[in-house]
Amino acid sequence: MAPRFLLLGLLAIALSLALAFDYSPLQNICVANPNSLVLVNGLVCKDPKLVQCNDFLFRGLHLVGNTSNSVGSRVAPVNVAQILGLNTLGISLVRINYAPCGTNPPYTHPCATEILTVLQGNFIVGFVTSNPENRLISKVLKKGDVFVFPAGLVHFQCNVGYGNAIAIAALDSQNPGVIPIANAVFGSKPDIASDLLAKVF
Ligand SMILES: *[C@@H]1O[C@H](CO)[C@@H](O)[C@H](O)[C@H]1NC(C)=O
Repeated sequence: MAPRFLLLGLLAIALSLALAFDYSPLQNICVANPNSLVLVNGLVCKDPKLVQCNDFLFRGLHLVGNTSNSVGSRVAPVNVAQILGLNTLGISLVRINYAPCGTNPPYTHPCATEILTVLQGNFIVGFVTSNPENRLISKVLKKGDVFVFPAGLVHFQCNVGYGNAIAIAALDSQNPGVIPIANAVFGSKPDIASDLLAKVF
């Protein structure tokens, strides 16, 4: 009997871990109320009677982003800040425009895995696994290719074609967050002490 109970116990633990990670909303809709002063993990729900069709709509992702900046790319996010109805649903997306030689420089989403689809152009993309391997997983992508950046890992895209490039990426968080590595490390407010940065870099 004992081994059977052990097996059942392990199975229960495995199932509960799997369910705990892939959490489900507790209601059909919880459209965010952006005006609430209550601070919770996420955003509080609007009164369902006040929910409108437009709470689930975003328009304009066909528009070309302005890539005249130092990195030559522009991200148009569509997360819970743009679609209030995404609240509690664990999903969002971005459109990214790249000028020729434009990059989306190394960054990470603390809360989300990203799955990127190339709509136009040619890219080198990659991510780096965590310590101690720090292995670079990198690939050249063309139109129609899809690549995954696992949650939390530092990743990048670089347009290596001659023309403008476009990608769409989906993320498994309503609010994936973004940490551009260079900005976080060298552009924090206030600064991280420069002698410390000099030592570690
Ligand atoms: C794009 O951004 C640059 C730099 O901010 C600005 O000078 C330019 O007018 C913008 N172009 C358009 C079409 O908005």
